[in-house]
Amino acid sequence: MLLCLCTFILWAGVTTQESPLDSAQTCSTQVSIQGGTMLLSDGYRQGSILTYSCPDGSYPYPARSRMCQADGNWSPMRSPSGRLVTQASCRDMRCPPQQTFENGFYGPRLSAHRVGSVLNFECFDGYQLHGSAQRHCLPNGRWNGTSPVCDDGAGHCRSLPTPPGALSSGGRNRLGDRISFQCMKGLDLVGSSQHVCTPEGEWSGAETSCRAPYSYDRAEDVGAEFGASLTNVLSVVSSGTDHVPAQSLGRRLILSQGSFLHVYLLADASHSVTKENFEIFKNSLEIIIDRIASFEVPVRFAVFSYASQPKKIVDTFDDIAEDPDLVIEKMKDKMKYEDHGNATGTNIQQALMAVYRMMISHRASNDKGWDQTRHAIILLTDGKSNMGGSPRNATLRIEDLLNVAANRKDYLDIYVFGVGNLDVDWDGMNEVASKKAGEKHVFKMKDSMELKKAFEDVLDPRDLKDLCGMANNSASASWDQQQPWHIMLQHTTQGEPSCRGVLISKTWVLTAAHCFSKFNDTLSWRVILADKTAYKTGLPIKRRIDHGLYNVRAKVAQGIEEFYDYDVSLLELDVPMQVAQKLRPICLPCTTGANKALKKPETATCKDHELDLLSFEKVPAQFVSLDNERMNVLIKTKKSRPKCISAAVQHKLYSKVANISEVVTDRFLCSGGDGNGVVEDAVCKGESGGSLFVERRARYFQVGVISWGTFDPCEKKGKSMETGHRIREAPKRGQKPRDFYISLFQVQDWLRHHLAGSLRFIPLQ
Ligand SMILES: *[C@@H]1O[C@H](CO)[C@@H](O)[C@H](O)[C@H]1NC(C)=O
Ligand SMILES: *[C@@H]1O[C@H](CO)[C@@H](O)[C@H](O)[C@H]1NC(C)=O
Ligand SMILES: *[C@@H]1O[C@H](CO)[C@@H](O)[C@H](O)[C@H]1NC(C)=O
Ligand SMILES: *[C@@H]1O[C@H](CO)[C@@H](O)[C@H](O)[C@H]1NC(C)=O
Ligand SMILES: *[C@@H]1O[C@H](CO)[C@@H](O)[C@H](O)[C@H]1NC(C)=O
Ligand SMILES: *[C@@H]1O[C@H](CO)[C@@H](O)[C@H](O)[C@H]1NC(C)=O
Repeated sequence: MLLCLCTFILWAGVTTQESPLDSAQTCSTQVSIQGGTMLLSDGYRQGSILTYSCPDGSYPYPARSRMCQADGNWSPMRSPSGRLVTQASCRDMRCPPQQTFENGFYGPRLSAHRVGSVLNFECFDGYQLHGSAQRHCLPNGRWNGTSPVCDDGAGHCRSLPTPPGALSSGGRNRLGDRISFQCMKGLDLVGSSQHVCTPEGEWSGAETSCRAPYSYDRAEDVGAEFGASLTNVLSVVSSGTDHVPAQSLGRRLILSQGSFLHVYLLADASHSVTKENFEIFKNSLEIIIDRIASFEVPVRFAVFSYASQPKKIVDTFDDIAEDPDLVIEKMKDKMKYEDHGNATGTNIQQALMAVYRMMISHRASNDKGWDQTRHAIILLTDGKSNMGGSPRNATLRIEDLLNVAANRKDYLDIYVFGVGNLDVDWDGMNEVASKKAGEKHVFKMKDSMELKKAFEDVLDPRDLKDLCGMANNSASASWDQQQPWHIMLQHTTQGEPSCRGVLISKTWVLTAAHCFSKFNDTLSWRVILADKTAYKTGLPIKRRIDHGLYNVRAKVAQGIEEFYDYDVSLLELDVPMQVAQKLRPICLPCTTGANKALKKPETATCKDHELDLLSFEKVPAQFVSLDNERMNVLIKTKKSRPKCISAAVQHKLYSKVANISEVVTDRFLCSGGDGNGVVEDAVCKGESGGSLFVERRARYFQVGVISWGTFDPCEKKGKSMETGHRIREAPKRGQKPRDFYISLFQVQDWLRHHLAGSLRFIPLQ
């Protein structure tokens, strides 16, 4: 939170005391930056924060932010050598030079490299190159790829690469050899400075890198690296066989029954963070809560905001700590930037001490589970701790309390995210963060929006092989990443798909039986995936099983020409599909997979799932449109159902039906707006067979199969010039669009009978 080393004493003073000066005191307007832009948090008034930004590939020199001080002056800027600088300017980023490279050639050898320059590496004969043979200097001031090394395979460990900007000293790569790194002047060391060749043939410690103060991590790298590490924390080896644990980097967490993961989230609310960024911090933490909660791990959350003092928002002790929705609700309600008043220093030590105290009181009252509880701390800060002393003291206490030294390293992970400020202190962050081989725990982001983006992309569901109902909710995700279970059905004689369906396991697709009324030859149908690269011409179908009680003509004698009760079919694929980011089954209620995803006890029943998923009178649910967008409806249950189904008479086939329950049987779920301002989408023809699904903590559960409706918003077949999407028409006055879906809770016997070999079901009652 401070501007530069030299001013931090001043800062702490200014921000924690009341100013005796006239609050109308203003600072100079002559503070522009050459080549860049600036932003003021509160104009030129005292206390206002000035933030400089520069185009990609450059950075504000010598400081990124300044503050209008109580004395009416902007906080001074100094060069790294301490010289006073009056005019800020944008300077080009540089990547650190490679200092040494053993047993090979490399070049070009320059003292600094511009963005876009390339380094090439080649090994002497007899040595093999590991890592990147070519690296490019990226606009964030870092080389891409991984540090290369030449190795002859003779050592106990593979030779340890020397990162750019570093010099190494010490042994070679025999068992027990020790290698230390030092960074060139002006660069900060991140990761472990020392590595030992262990009996397992691996180097201890987190990878070393030498970072220029202005370099930062890209959201996509952070998403992947933080995600890889966090996945290790979260992956559960289940007793069942229906999913494979994450392939981790040598670390695998086994959470036994009754054990917990405690996640402590700390957001910096110090002055320089600004209210706006604090809100984004909060938002980012909410995203991470959601992500973590989507894993099948019993987790309790604690949340703090901190400035000079920490403020506890949620305690792992609280009843709500287990419920991510309630935790997020409480954050929205109770977590305020203003709560820190004028005490706006950055005291990371106090914040971590608050975590420590929480741990102590939890241990005191929960002896048994305590030893099995894992802890992850996620700390967001915009800069250097400028008061309260070294945060390392607090982490040492926490390590001590958790007995980390006794081979319990896996019980604690501390992640530190430095955000926004150029003067974010690498050393301080590195001191606090965990250091684990093959993992990263320290990150620096350009701004809070980048942090949010990284968190959105974190936790790769690919790592968790067969988990049902996982989706990528990142705003930049493609639609098939967002609903990887959604498929299309196309008859080989037709130009385009005529129905939709849903993957419910690796070999089974669920759809509507009426899809096959025109072309009944199952083998001429194909399951079409969005990801054409995986299965170009679609997946062939081995067999189709219609529900035995489905019969369109069943009520012709009663004057009902078409009757859609039990309108469901199962399609078995010829070859099981490969689960991937864009291809993954949805959760089918009443299966063990759904039970875990809903975090229900093992004794839960199908009835419990129904009560959970269809608990409200108007249940928010979604389906996928012809344009592959998520559409929103409200399933009307309980008292709202009769009114919903009564409008089915608006269908021309049923206008003469006296008793609408003859048509809309108990099998059907009903949705549709009543024109009272609530915007509810209606289903188009062609969307039949697709799934009606409900979200619970970023996991998705199918509750129905789209069957029929009273109104087709796509009837006119028009497309928007702008988006290329179909124009969905609004109903006319007096029209009450209704859509009907076969409830999966009403066809359980049939599902169980046919799917028993592929999915495991829980008892009905
Ligand atoms: C590094 O970046 C360059 C240019 O963007 C790209 O061509 C290259 O494949 C990247 N290398 C690695 C190892 O990611
Ligand atoms: C913060 O400082 C302002 C003026 O500097 C003062 O009016 C206000 O009462 C202070 N607030 C708190 C909570 O101390
Ligand atoms: C940190 O701990 C060391 C050793 O226990 C102690 O000397 C030092 O004063 C502590 N620093 C702070 C700021 O608490
Ligand atoms: C989600 O999609 C985005 C955009 O394609 C991608 O960058 C990110 O890695 C994906 N995240 C996961 C967890 O798969
Ligand atoms: C499809 O054909 C089979 C036999 O040819 C018949 O038993 C079945 O009722 C037909 N299904 C539909 C949906 O028309
Ligand atoms: C309407 O039809 C349903 C289903 O066939 C039946 O159970 C119900 O008794 C009927 N109601 C009336 C008022 O006839």
